Amino acid sequence: MFKFVINGGKTLHGKLAVGGSKNATLPLMAATLLARGKYVIEGIPILRDVMTMKQLMETIGVSIEFKNHRMVVDSSDYDNLEAPYELVKKMRASIYVLGPLLAKNGYAKVSLPGGCAWGPRPVNFHIESLKKMGAAIDLEQGYIVAKADRLKGTLIAFDYPSVGATGNVLMAAALAEGTTVIQNAAMEPEIINLVEFLNAMGARISGTGTNRLEINGVDALHPANAAVIPDRIEAGTFLVAAAITGGDIVLERVEPNHLTAVLSKLKDTGAEIAVEDSTISLSAGQKILSVNVSTAVYPGFPTDMQAQWMALMCVADNTSIIADTVYTDRFAHVPELIRLGARIRVEGNAAAVKGVKRLTGATVMSTDLRASASLILAGLVAEGTTEVLRIYHIDRGYEAIEKKLQAVGADIRRIRTEDF
Ligand code: EPU
Repeated sequence: MFKFVINGGKTLHGKLAVGGSKNATLPLMAATLLARGKYVIEGIPILRDVMTMKQLMETIGVSIEFKNHRMVVDSSDYDNLEAPYELVKKMRASIYVLGPLLAKNGYAKVSLPGGCAWGPRPVNFHIESLKKMGAAIDLEQGYIVAKADRLKGTLIAFDYPSVGATGNVLMAAALAEGTTVIQNAAMEPEIINLVEFLNAMGARISGTGTNRLEINGVDALHPANAAVIPDRIEAGTFLVAAAITGGDIVLERVEPNHLTAVLSKLKDTGAEIAVEDSTISLSAGQKILSVNVSTAVYPGFPTDMQAQWMALMCVADNTSIIADTVYTDRFAHVPELIRLGARIRVEGNAAAVKGVKRLTGATVMSTDLRASASLILAGLVAEGTTEVLRIYHIDRGYEAIEKKLQAVGADIRRIRTEDF
């Protein structure tokens, strides 16, 4: 086990390159199950979740070479149409293999993901949509067992624009007979990355970037190559790191258009922001002004930045309200931030955060990926030493975060520990 030891109070300055998006990579990898053959995917981050997806694909029978952020996937010979509990319990996004396995092979057996650190996170939209497309689905001993000779296009109207369910239906519908229309589809950039990849594979999907996607099913797809978009949440996390330490940062290899809600809120805190093609510069203001946020689906403020925003608001000048409408109980970071001296009260799906003059270093524990990021951010500004335990959570979604933060002046070290 490892922990981070952070000596707070260093102001961050410098340049950082943002890596490829975790949440775009995972469905792209799953999509290679739709057509047997060889694919090259560029810009893949080295993360625990990517390694879990690689292991899952290998269990299915796909060969993968992964070097220098470039993945060569060969799905020519896979023959095991199952995603076992041992892997799905490590990463819920494993559910992405359900649609492609079923559409391509007429059968899939995927473990139900179960709960996660902050709540139930159901997969009913995935299951109901595939049933509407003609699949016979049974739940057997914790597994989703899906069968279909050939899926049929239909109207899928989501009650909520789920990212994962939109991805699964897109992949399933690409090979279905006839036309599928997804209403209230997710519009996240990671979904657009997937649509473009599927179209490069020969799919006929229109409506990209809108909440109405139309998929004209084809008989067969073919392998293609893909490039992963930059990780907007890693970018947002580094921007907050600069803002919270009163520093300045230039982010390279980023897509500013994917971050409009976050950039607008950061400006409201008093930070100066400049944007060029694939660069964002942030210079912190004299003080951090308190700014409310309410998370929403894209292009709203991302739930995956809520915990990091809370860390920033902990040291802002006044009181702010942070509401999460996507995951209404995603507040596992709150008790740990309080251990560092934050003043936060949670009621329902919202937290009132009263800014304090200083946070003080303490030992805290990560409970999930974005909660860990918020504790690191708080540690960067806390007086004295903060130890963040259970950092395997952060390695799921940030590639060598300590090295990147060190490069811009943070005093953060990864240390082996006996603590769990
Ligand atoms: N929902 C249902 N039923 C479903 C699916 C979703 O009720 O069948 C609900 C969820 O409980 C939630 C809402 O719909 O309240 C949105 O969930 P969504 O399906 O959009 O989330 P996801 O696809 O499971 C992805 C990201 C998450 C991110 C959410 C929201 C990946 C691999 N994961 O999850 O990322 O928080 O979208 O933007 O893309 C993270 O990176 O830390 C992370 C958790």
